[in-house]
Amino acid sequence: MNRQIVNGTYISYQDQGRGLPVVLLHGYPLDSRLWQYQLADLSSDFRVIAPDLRGFGQSVGGGEFSMESQADDVHALANALELGKFVLAGLSMGGYITLAYCRKYPSTLRGVGLIDTRAEGDTSEGKKNRDKAIELVGQKGSKGIADQMLPKLLAPETINHRPQLATAVRQMCEQCSPQTIATALAAMRDRVDQTEFLPSLTEPTLIIVGDQDAITPPAIADSMHKAIPNSQLVVIRGAGHLAPLEQPQQVNRALRSFLGNNL
Ligand code: MLT
Repeated sequence: MNRQIVNGTYISYQDQGRGLPVVLLHGYPLDSRLWQYQLADLSSDFRVIAPDLRGFGQSVGGGEFSMESQADDVHALANALELGKFVLAGLSMGGYITLAYCRKYPSTLRGVGLIDTRAEGDTSEGKKNRDKAIELVGQKGSKGIADQMLPKLLAPETINHRPQLATAVRQMCEQCSPQTIATALAAMRDRVDQTEFLPSLTEPTLIIVGDQDAITPPAIADSMHKAIPNSQLVVIRGAGHLAPLEQPQQVNRALRSFLGNNL
């Protein structure tokens, strides 16, 4: 793991391979280990960088953040690493941050990946659920959130037949600090709805979704695909919300094809 001071905090990141830089942003309440199979595979042909976002994994937290401020951190990290133009892809919350980044820093991008994510903001019911989850983490800590999230993060067959993977995801959730979880929940609750922005996203865009994604189902990915002019959609078979971990071969094939043919 590497470390870099970014906007006044230490950001940890994995950085493997050489070539076109591809930056991968994890979801909530996870960290860069989400991308372990993409780092291992794609780094033979690309420079793959997977940061732990501020407050997550081994990065230092403290203080508030928003999808926009996380995007500012990604921009500062990319500058510090002298990436030049790069491809930015994010899963779920990482996708919210990717869309915030696309709005702020489009000239730095070669391409975009939106994985198991959505452009809409939270509904009023969704916002109430965020507030309940903030209460839950206050009362039961990260374990309470892990209990709540696990069945939604993974496809039922992953949970039933791949206990080691389910345990690894549970550990990631439990290792995320309660403070970061509460801050992330508030930041996601208050995030900007990006649906109106989608037609102006002109970079080549790859949308990936697990066919059993319970949090951001395929219909949501399809509506992003219809709204983003230069986009393609790949549905991953046998995956829930964490397609890169659940079906890495299919996800890597989709990413390789996108990176090799479209950019
Ligand atoms: C994530 O996977 O990043 C979160 O589930 C996204 C969300 O709760 O909106």
